[in-house]
Amino acid sequence: MLRRPVTDDESRHASRAWWDLDADAYQGEHGAFLGDNDFVWCPEGLREADARLLGDVRGKRVLELGAGAAAGARWLEGQGADAVAMDLSAGMLRQARGGEERSGVRVPLVQADALALPFAESIFDIVCTAFGAIPFVADSGAAMLEVARVLKPGGRWVFSITHPMRWIFWDEPDESGLIARNSYFDRRPYVEVDEQGRPTYVEQHRTLGDRVRELVAAGFVLRDLIEPEWPPGHDQIWGQWSPLRGRLFPGTAIFIATLPTAQPT
Ligand SMILES: C[S@@+](CC[C@H](N)C(=O)[O-])C[C@H]1O[C@@H](n2cnc3c(N)ncnc32)[C@H](O)[C@@H]1O
Repeated sequence: MLRRPVTDDESRHASRAWWDLDADAYQGEHGAFLGDNDFVWCPEGLREADARLLGDVRGKRVLELGAGAAAGARWLEGQGADAVAMDLSAGMLRQARGGEERSGVRVPLVQADALALPFAESIFDIVCTAFGAIPFVADSGAAMLEVARVLKPGGRWVFSITHPMRWIFWDEPDESGLIARNSYFDRRPYVEVDEQGRPTYVEQHRTLGDRVRELVAAGFVLRDLIEPEWPPGHDQIWGQWSPLRGRLFPGTAIFIATLPTAQPT
């Protein structure tokens, strides 16, 4: 497991190429679990239809970051939201087109980087993502500032990521993934490289405290931190997420934060 610092440019380049190449395989493997018209927060199977972490979305302008095939944005549109799906990867957005054709629901698809959102200030009521963008940018504090910029006062930001404590283990769903081997405090990203040593896959680790500080620094108030439990009877393995590990410790962290409402002057 290679852990070394990378720049934002290296991260962006690696993520774009990786997700373009991996888009068909990712959807092939996880598409049935995610659905074409559903908002699934995590491999534990927590669905927005049940959890309602975004609150009432009717009539709200919602941006889904790192939307992948955009099943979440389409589900939100069906709930009466005015949803936009954005992603860095054209390959993932091509999957979103496929999802639109199958489901008959269309939302605007925007190809962009979470570090440079191509939207005006204060136009969204809600920004959300299930495992999109945030784990893949080197400067996630800057991404939080971008989210704060496009949200209206009082707006809500909800994002799920791999639970930071998982980084102490190997990424294995079986017993070998139960032994603590890495320092929780090692913030260097996990990196895969090509023959020239150029990063081809980069995933970033921050501690829980780091995430709270990033949110606070961007002006957010943290409202809740959800650690979904592994549901009884759920036996589907997703990479390192498995019933064995899920019964023992959390695999996902979902942060719910809001901007303060505008103060009267
Ligand atoms: C694990 S997938 C999650 C996709 C989708 N949210 C889901 O639940 O299936 C991560 C997504 O983040 C996107 N992504 C990675 N880096 C990004 C960035 N800098 N800006 C926007 N999206 C990014 C990838 O292209 C990919 O679609």
